Amino acid sequence: MTTVPFFDLKRQFSLFRGEVLSEIASICDAQAFVLGPRVEEFERAIEILCGGGHAVGASSGTDAELLILMALGIGPGDAVITTPFTFFSTAGCIARLGAKPVFVDIEPETFNLSPEKLALCLNEECGIDEVGVRTRDGLRVKAVIPVHLFGLCCRMDEIRAVCARYNLPVIEDAAQAIGAEYPSSNGIRRAGGMGEFSYFSFYPTKNLGAFGDAGLAIAQDEKLAKRMKILRNHGMDPLYYHDLLGGNFRLDALQAAILLKKLPLLAGWSNRRNQIAQYYRREFADFAPELRLPAEPYRDQLGERGHIYHQYVVRTAKRDRLREHLNNSGIGTAIYYPVSLNHQKCFAELHARPFPESELAAREVLALPIFPELEDDEVKLVVDTVSAFFKN
Ligand SMILES: Cc1ncc(COP(=O)(O)O)c(C=O)c1O
Repeated sequence: MTTVPFFDLKRQFSLFRGEVLSEIASICDAQAFVLGPRVEEFERAIEILCGGGHAVGASSGTDAELLILMALGIGPGDAVITTPFTFFSTAGCIARLGAKPVFVDIEPETFNLSPEKLALCLNEECGIDEVGVRTRDGLRVKAVIPVHLFGLCCRMDEIRAVCARYNLPVIEDAAQAIGAEYPSSNGIRRAGGMGEFSYFSFYPTKNLGAFGDAGLAIAQDEKLAKRMKILRNHGMDPLYYHDLLGGNFRLDALQAAILLKKLPLLAGWSNRRNQIAQYYRREFADFAPELRLPAEPYRDQLGERGHIYHQYVVRTAKRDRLREHLNNSGIGTAIYYPVSLNHQKCFAELHARPFPESELAAREVLALPIFPELEDDEVKLVVDTVSAFFKN
Protein backbone atom coordinates (compact mmCIF):
# COMPACT_ATOMS: atom_id res chain seq x y z
CA MET A 1 0.00 0.00 0.00
CA THR A 2 1.35 3.41 -1.00
CA THR A 3 1.38 5.92 1.85
CA VAL A 4 2.94 8.83 -0.04
CA PRO A 5 2.55 8.63 -3.81
CA PHE A 6 5.36 9.83 -6.05
CA PHE A 7 2.77 11.93 -7.84
CA ASP A 8 -1.02 12.03 -7.97
CA LEU A 9 -2.57 13.88 -10.89
CA LYS A 10 -6.11 13.22 -9.63
CA ARG A 11 -5.60 15.65 -6.74
CA GLN A 12 -4.81 18.51 -9.12
CA PHE A 13 -7.71 17.69 -11.41
CA SER A 14 -10.18 17.77 -8.53
CA LEU A 15 -9.23 21.45 -7.91
CA PHE A 16 -10.48 22.73 -11.28
CA ARG A 17 -12.54 19.84 -12.59
CA GLY A 18 -15.63 21.93 -13.38
CA GLU A 19 -13.74 24.68 -15.19
CA VAL A 20 -11.74 22.26 -17.32
CA LEU A 21 -14.74 20.13 -18.20
CA SER A 22 -16.69 23.17 -19.38
CA GLU A 23 -13.69 24.20 -21.50
CA ILE A 24 -13.59 20.71 -23.02
CA ALA A 25 -17.35 20.93 -23.66
CA SER A 26 -16.96 24.21 -25.53
CA ILE A 27 -14.30 22.67 -27.83
CA CYS A 28 -16.61 19.70 -28.41
CA ASP A 29 -19.47 22.08 -29.23
CA ALA A 30 -17.26 23.88 -31.76
CA GLN A 31 -16.03 20.52 -33.20
CA ALA A 32 -12.74 22.19 -34.23
CA PHE A 33 -9.99 20.03 -32.77
CA VAL A 34 -6.69 20.64 -34.54
CA LEU A 35 -4.66 23.88 -34.22
CA GLY A 36 -6.92 26.97 -34.39
CA PRO A 37 -7.47 29.96 -32.06
CA ARG A 38 -6.87 28.18 -28.72
CA VAL A 39 -3.49 26.93 -29.96
CA GLU A 40 -2.58 30.43 -31.15
CA GLU A 41 -3.65 31.93 -27.83
CA PHE A 42 -1.51 29.38 -26.00
CA GLU A 43 1.47 30.12 -28.26
CA ARG A 44 1.17 33.86 -27.45
CA ALA A 45 0.92 33.12 -23.72
CA ILE A 46 4.13 31.04 -23.73
CA GLU A 47 5.95 33.71 -25.76
CA ILE A 48 5.02 36.22 -23.05
CA LEU A 49 6.10 33.85 -20.27
CA CYS A 50 9.47 33.28 -21.95
CA GLY A 51 10.06 36.93 -22.77
CA GLY A 52 9.75 36.79 -26.56
CA GLY A 53 10.36 34.57 -29.57
CA HIS A 54 7.91 32.88 -31.91
CA ALA A 55 6.13 29.86 -30.47
CA VAL A 56 4.96 26.84 -32.44
CA GLY A 57 2.64 24.46 -30.59
CA ALA A 58 3.46 20.80 -31.26
CA SER A 59 2.13 17.33 -30.54
CA SER A 60 4.82 16.59 -27.90
CA GLY A 61 8.14 17.85 -26.60
CA THR A 62 9.83 15.25 -28.78
CA ASP A 63 8.05 16.51 -31.89
CA ALA A 64 8.87 20.11 -30.96
CA GLU A 65 12.56 19.17 -30.87
CA LEU A 66 12.24 17.34 -34.21
CA LEU A 67 10.65 20.44 -35.74
CA ILE A 68 13.60 22.58 -34.69
CA LEU A 69 16.19 20.10 -35.97
CA MET A 70 14.27 19.70 -39.24
CA ALA A 71 13.99 23.48 -39.68
CA LEU A 72 17.78 23.64 -39.31
CA GLY A 73 18.10 20.96 -42.00
CA ILE A 74 19.93 18.57 -39.66
CA GLY A 75 20.47 15.08 -41.08
CA PRO A 76 23.08 12.56 -42.21
CA GLY A 77 26.64 13.93 -42.02
CA ASP A 78 25.74 16.24 -39.12
CA ALA A 79 26.38 16.10 -35.38
CA VAL A 80 24.57 17.80 -32.50
CA ILE A 81 26.14 18.16 -29.07
CA THR A 82 24.09 17.37 -25.98
CA THR A 83 24.26 15.75 -22.53
CA PRO A 84 24.17 11.99 -21.88
CA PHE A 85 22.19 12.59 -18.65
CA THR A 86 18.71 13.43 -19.89
CA PHE A 87 15.52 11.80 -21.08
CA PHE A 88 16.17 9.64 -24.14
CA SER A 89 14.36 11.83 -26.66
CA THR A 90 16.84 14.71 -26.41
CA ALA A 91 19.42 12.53 -28.16
CA GLY A 92 16.92 10.21 -29.85
CA CYS A 93 15.58 12.97 -32.12
CA ILE A 94 19.09 13.78 -33.33
CA ALA A 95 19.75 10.13 -34.22
CA ARG A 96 16.30 9.62 -35.80
CA LEU A 97 17.14 12.31 -38.34
CA GLY A 98 20.34 10.45 -39.27
CA ALA A 99 22.66 12.82 -37.39
CA LYS A 100 24.99 11.84 -34.55
CA PRO A 101 24.44 12.88 -30.94
CA VAL A 102 27.82 13.87 -29.52
CA PHE A 103 27.80 13.76 -25.73
CA VAL A 104 29.49 16.19 -23.36
CA ASP A 105 29.54 15.25 -19.68
CA ILE A 106 27.58 17.00 -16.91
CA GLU A 107 28.49 19.01 -13.82
CA PRO A 108 28.03 16.67 -10.82
CA GLU A 109 26.39 19.36 -8.67
CA THR A 110 23.63 20.45 -11.07
CA PHE A 111 23.39 17.42 -13.43
CA ASN A 112 23.46 19.95 -16.29
CA LEU A 113 25.80 20.10 -19.31
CA SER A 114 29.17 21.48 -18.25
CA PRO A 115 30.16 24.64 -20.19
CA GLU A 116 33.83 23.92 -19.47
CA LYS A 117 33.59 20.39 -20.92
CA LEU A 118 31.66 21.78 -23.88
CA ALA A 119 34.54 24.19 -24.57
CA LEU A 120 37.04 21.32 -24.24
CA CYS A 121 35.05 19.16 -26.65
CA LEU A 122 34.93 21.92 -29.25
CA ASN A 123 38.58 22.94 -28.72
CA GLU A 124 40.17 19.52 -28.56
CA GLU A 125 37.87 17.08 -30.31
CA CYS A 126 36.64 19.23 -33.18
CA GLY A 127 38.27 21.29 -35.90
CA ILE A 128 37.15 24.31 -37.88
CA ASP A 129 37.19 24.52 -41.68
CA GLU A 130 35.74 27.06 -44.09
CA VAL A 131 32.21 25.67 -43.61
CA GLY A 132 32.20 25.45 -39.82
CA VAL A 133 32.95 23.06 -36.96
CA ARG A 134 33.70 19.42 -37.72
CA THR A 135 34.13 16.41 -35.45
CA ARG A 136 37.22 14.19 -35.88
CA ASP A 137 35.14 11.76 -37.91
CA GLY A 138 34.25 14.56 -40.34
CA LEU A 139 30.70 15.30 -39.20
CA ARG A 140 29.53 18.88 -39.28
CA VAL A 141 28.51 20.15 -35.82
CA LYS A 142 25.21 21.99 -36.30
CA ALA A 143 23.91 22.87 -32.82
CA VAL A 144 24.21 22.40 -29.07
CA ILE A 145 21.30 21.24 -26.86
CA PRO A 146 21.71 22.01 -23.16
CA VAL A 147 18.96 20.51 -20.98
CA HIS A 148 17.61 22.43 -17.96
CA LEU A 149 17.30 19.21 -15.99
CA PHE A 150 14.81 18.81 -13.13
CA GLY A 151 13.80 22.50 -13.38
CA LEU A 152 17.19 24.20 -12.94
CA CYS A 153 18.57 26.29 -15.80
CA CYS A 154 22.00 25.48 -17.21
CA ARG A 155 24.77 28.08 -16.92
CA MET A 156 23.51 29.70 -20.08
CA ASP A 157 25.84 32.73 -20.18
CA GLU A 158 28.84 30.42 -20.31
CA ILE A 159 27.22 27.97 -22.75
CA ARG A 160 26.12 30.77 -25.06
CA ALA A 161 29.58 32.34 -24.97
CA VAL A 162 31.21 29.05 -26.03
CA CYS A 163 28.63 28.50 -28.79
CA ALA A 164 29.00 32.08 -30.05
CA ARG A 165 32.74 31.47 -30.50
CA TYR A 166 31.93 28.61 -32.86
CA ASN A 167 28.85 30.18 -34.40
CA LEU A 168 26.64 27.33 -33.19
CA PRO A 169 22.94 27.83 -32.41
CA VAL A 170 21.79 26.90 -28.90
CA ILE A 171 18.61 24.82 -28.61
CA GLU A 172 17.36 24.82 -25.01
CA ASP A 173 15.68 21.62 -23.90
CA ALA A 174 13.31 23.32 -21.47
CA ALA A 175 10.99 20.29 -21.28
CA GLN A 176 11.29 20.18 -17.47
CA ALA A 177 11.84 23.86 -16.74
CA ILE A 178 8.81 25.97 -17.60
CA GLY A 179 8.95 29.22 -15.61
CA ALA A 180 12.48 28.64 -14.22
CA GLU A 181 14.58 31.79 -14.12
CA TYR A 182 18.26 32.41 -14.75
CA PRO A 183 20.39 35.38 -13.63
CA SER A 184 22.01 36.24 -16.95
CA SER A 185 24.54 39.08 -17.18
CA ASN A 186 21.85 40.77 -19.34
CA GLY A 187 19.26 40.53 -16.59
CA ILE A 188 16.89 37.85 -15.41
CA ARG A 189 15.82 35.46 -18.18
CA ARG A 190 13.42 32.55 -18.32
CA ALA A 191 13.99 28.99 -19.52
CA GLY A 192 13.03 28.80 -23.17
CA GLY A 193 13.92 32.44 -23.84
CA MET A 194 17.70 32.24 -23.95
CA GLY A 195 18.69 30.12 -26.94
CA GLU A 196 18.14 30.65 -30.65
CA PHE A 197 15.59 27.86 -30.16
CA SER A 198 13.92 26.08 -27.27
CA TYR A 199 11.27 23.48 -26.63
CA PHE A 200 8.90 22.42 -23.86
CA SER A 201 7.04 19.23 -23.01
CA PHE A 202 3.56 19.32 -21.53
CA TYR A 203 3.45 15.60 -20.80
CA PRO A 204 0.81 15.11 -18.04
CA THR A 205 3.33 14.83 -15.18
CA LYS A 206 5.26 17.96 -16.14
CA ASN A 207 4.80 21.10 -13.96
CA LEU A 208 2.40 22.33 -16.65
CA GLY A 209 0.80 19.13 -17.91
CA ALA A 210 -1.76 18.48 -20.64
CA PHE A 211 -4.34 15.68 -20.69
CA GLY A 212 -2.19 13.65 -23.06
CA ASP A 213 0.86 14.53 -25.14
CA ALA A 214 1.62 18.15 -26.02
CA GLY A 215 4.67 20.31 -26.60
CA LEU A 216 5.87 23.60 -28.00
CA ALA A 217 8.93 24.95 -29.80
CA ILE A 218 10.20 28.52 -29.84
CA ALA A 219 12.41 30.13 -32.49
CA GLN A 220 13.82 33.61 -32.03
CA ASP A 221 13.95 33.96 -35.82
CA GLU A 222 10.53 34.62 -37.33
CA LYS A 223 11.35 33.01 -40.70
CA LEU A 224 12.51 29.78 -39.04
CA ALA A 225 9.36 29.75 -36.88
CA LYS A 226 7.28 30.05 -40.06
CA ARG A 227 9.23 27.12 -41.52
CA MET A 228 8.52 25.10 -38.36
CA LYS A 229 4.79 25.83 -38.69
CA ILE A 230 4.87 24.50 -42.24
CA LEU A 231 6.91 21.45 -41.21
CA ARG A 232 4.46 20.59 -38.40
CA ASN A 233 1.71 20.26 -41.03
CA HIS A 234 3.41 17.87 -43.49
CA GLY A 235 5.49 20.67 -44.99
CA MET A 236 2.29 21.80 -46.71
CA ASP A 237 2.06 25.39 -47.97
CA PRO A 238 -0.29 26.22 -49.61
CA LEU A 239 -2.88 23.46 -49.20
CA TYR A 240 -1.73 20.21 -50.87
CA TYR A 241 1.57 21.69 -52.08
CA HIS A 242 4.70 20.37 -50.38
CA ASP A 243 8.01 22.10 -51.01
CA LEU A 244 9.25 20.75 -47.68
CA LEU A 245 9.15 17.23 -46.26
CA GLY A 246 7.36 17.62 -42.93
CA GLY A 247 5.19 15.47 -40.70
CA ASN A 248 2.10 15.63 -38.51
CA PHE A 249 3.35 17.43 -35.40
CA ARG A 250 0.22 19.52 -34.72
CA LEU A 251 -1.10 20.50 -31.30
CA ASP A 252 -4.75 19.75 -30.51
CA ALA A 253 -7.12 22.56 -29.53
CA LEU A 254 -8.27 20.49 -26.52
CA GLN A 255 -4.74 20.32 -25.11
CA ALA A 256 -4.13 24.03 -25.72
CA ALA A 257 -7.42 24.93 -23.99
CA ILE A 258 -6.57 22.79 -20.95
CA LEU A 259 -3.05 24.23 -20.77
CA LEU A 260 -4.45 27.78 -20.99
CA LYS A 261 -6.70 27.02 -18.00
CA LYS A 262 -3.76 25.68 -15.99
CA LEU A 263 -1.20 28.33 -16.93
CA PRO A 264 -2.35 31.02 -14.42
CA LEU A 265 -1.91 28.44 -11.63
CA LEU A 266 1.66 27.54 -12.56
CA ALA A 267 3.45 30.19 -10.46
CA GLY A 268 1.56 29.12 -7.31
CA TRP A 269 2.37 25.46 -8.00
CA SER A 270 6.06 26.30 -8.44
CA ASN A 271 5.98 28.16 -5.09
CA ARG A 272 4.54 25.13 -3.34
CA ARG A 273 7.15 22.85 -4.93
CA ASN A 274 9.79 25.26 -3.62
CA GLN A 275 8.29 25.27 -0.15
CA ILE A 276 8.54 21.47 -0.05
CA ALA A 277 12.11 21.61 -1.40
CA GLN A 278 13.18 24.09 1.29
CA TYR A 279 11.64 21.88 3.98
CA TYR A 280 13.58 18.88 2.64
CA ARG A 281 16.73 21.04 2.51
CA ARG A 282 16.46 22.06 6.16
CA GLU A 283 15.57 18.62 7.44
CA PHE A 284 18.20 16.71 5.42
CA ALA A 285 21.08 19.12 6.08
CA ASP A 286 22.52 16.90 8.82
CA PHE A 287 22.96 13.91 6.51
CA ALA A 288 25.65 15.51 4.34
CA PRO A 289 27.98 14.37 2.87
CA GLU A 290 26.31 10.94 2.64
CA LEU A 291 23.19 12.52 1.18
CA ARG A 292 23.73 15.24 -1.40
CA LEU A 293 20.88 17.68 -1.99
CA PRO A 294 19.96 19.52 -5.19
CA ALA A 295 22.18 22.53 -5.93
CA GLU A 296 20.58 25.98 -5.94
CA PRO A 297 23.29 28.03 -7.66
CA TYR A 298 21.02 31.00 -8.39
CA ARG A 299 19.40 31.27 -4.96
CA ASP A 300 21.40 34.33 -3.85
CA GLN A 301 20.32 36.30 -6.90
CA LEU A 302 16.83 34.93 -7.54
CA GLY A 303 15.55 33.41 -4.32
CA GLU A 304 12.99 30.70 -5.03
CA ARG A 305 12.56 31.54 -8.70
CA GLY A 306 15.89 29.98 -9.66
CA HIS A 307 14.60 26.39 -9.45
CA ILE A 308 11.10 25.16 -10.23
CA TYR A 309 11.74 21.68 -8.80
CA HIS A 310 10.15 19.60 -11.50
CA GLN A 311 11.94 16.86 -9.59
CA TYR A 312 13.65 16.83 -6.19
CA VAL A 313 16.67 14.64 -6.91
CA VAL A 314 19.08 13.68 -4.15
CA ARG A 315 22.15 11.54 -4.55
CA THR A 316 23.80 8.97 -2.33
CA ALA A 317 26.08 5.98 -2.76
CA LYS A 318 23.41 4.05 -0.80
CA ARG A 319 20.72 4.88 -3.37
CA ASP A 320 19.33 1.39 -3.91
CA ARG A 321 19.09 0.65 -0.17
CA LEU A 322 17.47 4.02 0.51
CA ARG A 323 14.97 3.38 -2.25
CA GLU A 324 14.10 -0.03 -0.86
CA HIS A 325 13.68 1.44 2.63
CA LEU A 326 11.30 4.13 1.28
CA ASN A 327 9.46 1.59 -0.81
CA ASN A 328 8.97 -0.67 2.25
CA SER A 329 7.43 2.33 4.04
CA GLY A 330 5.04 3.03 1.17
CA ILE A 331 6.83 6.10 -0.17
CA GLY A 332 7.02 6.45 -3.94
CA THR A 333 10.35 7.33 -5.57
CA ALA A 334 11.76 7.31 -9.09
CA ILE A 335 15.15 7.16 -10.77
CA TYR A 336 15.87 9.78 -13.41
CA TYR A 337 17.87 8.36 -15.14
CA PRO A 338 19.19 4.86 -14.48
CA VAL A 339 21.30 4.66 -17.65
CA SER A 340 23.68 7.27 -19.04
CA LEU A 341 22.65 7.61 -22.69
CA ASN A 342 26.07 6.51 -23.99
CA HIS A 343 25.21 3.08 -22.54
CA GLN A 344 21.85 2.74 -24.28
CA LYS A 345 22.06 -0.11 -26.78
CA CYS A 346 20.70 1.99 -29.64
CA PHE A 347 23.67 4.35 -29.19
CA ALA A 348 26.15 1.46 -29.07
CA GLU A 349 28.53 3.07 -31.54
CA LEU A 350 28.94 6.03 -29.16
CA HIS A 351 30.30 3.86 -26.33
CA ALA A 352 33.91 4.58 -27.15
CA ARG A 353 34.48 7.14 -24.42
CA PRO A 354 33.29 7.18 -20.80
CA PHE A 355 31.19 10.00 -19.32
CA PRO A 356 32.14 9.49 -15.68
CA GLU A 357 29.90 12.12 -14.07
CA SER A 358 26.82 11.07 -15.98
CA GLU A 359 27.52 7.38 -15.29
CA LEU A 360 28.05 8.01 -11.57
CA ALA A 361 24.89 10.14 -11.36
CA ALA A 362 22.92 7.29 -12.95
CA ARG A 363 24.03 5.04 -10.05
CA GLU A 364 23.35 7.56 -7.27
CA VAL A 365 20.26 9.64 -8.07
CA LEU A 366 16.88 9.25 -6.41
CA ALA A 367 13.83 11.48 -6.92
CA LEU A 368 11.64 12.03 -3.84
CA PRO A 369 7.95 13.00 -3.98
CA ILE A 370 7.44 16.67 -4.85
CA PHE A 371 4.18 17.89 -6.33
CA PRO A 372 2.08 20.89 -5.33
CA GLU A 373 -0.79 18.92 -3.82
CA LEU A 374 1.39 16.93 -1.39
CA GLU A 375 0.09 17.45 2.13
CA ASP A 376 2.39 18.69 4.90
CA ASP A 377 2.00 15.45 6.86
CA GLU A 378 3.03 13.48 3.76
CA VAL A 379 6.15 15.61 3.33
CA LYS A 380 6.95 15.09 7.01
CA LEU A 381 6.56 11.33 6.58
CA VAL A 382 9.08 11.39 3.72
CA VAL A 383 11.48 13.37 5.93
CA ASP A 384 11.04 11.04 8.91
CA THR A 385 11.54 7.95 6.78
CA VAL A 386 14.68 9.26 5.07
CA SER A 387 15.99 10.46 8.45
CA ALA A 388 15.44 7.04 10.02
CA PHE A 389 17.50 5.47 7.22
CA PHE A 390 20.50 7.76 7.73
CA LYS A 391 20.34 7.73 11.55
CA ASN A 392 20.52 3.94 11.72
C1 LIG B 1 14.38 16.52 -20.73
C2 LIG B 1 13.27 16.09 -21.64
N1 LIG B 1 13.40 16.29 -22.96
C3 LIG B 1 12.44 15.93 -23.82
C4 LIG B 1 11.28 15.34 -23.39
C5 LIG B 1 10.27 14.88 -24.39
O1 LIG B 1 9.00 15.40 -24.21
P1 LIG B 1 7.67 14.56 -24.58
O2 LIG B 1 7.54 13.45 -23.61
O3 LIG B 1 6.58 15.58 -24.46
O4 LIG B 1 7.84 14.09 -25.96
C6 LIG B 1 11.08 15.12 -22.03
C7 LIG B 1 9.83 14.52 -21.52
O5 LIG B 1 9.77 13.60 -20.79
C8 LIG B 1 12.11 15.51 -21.12
O6 LIG B 1 11.98 15.30 -19.80
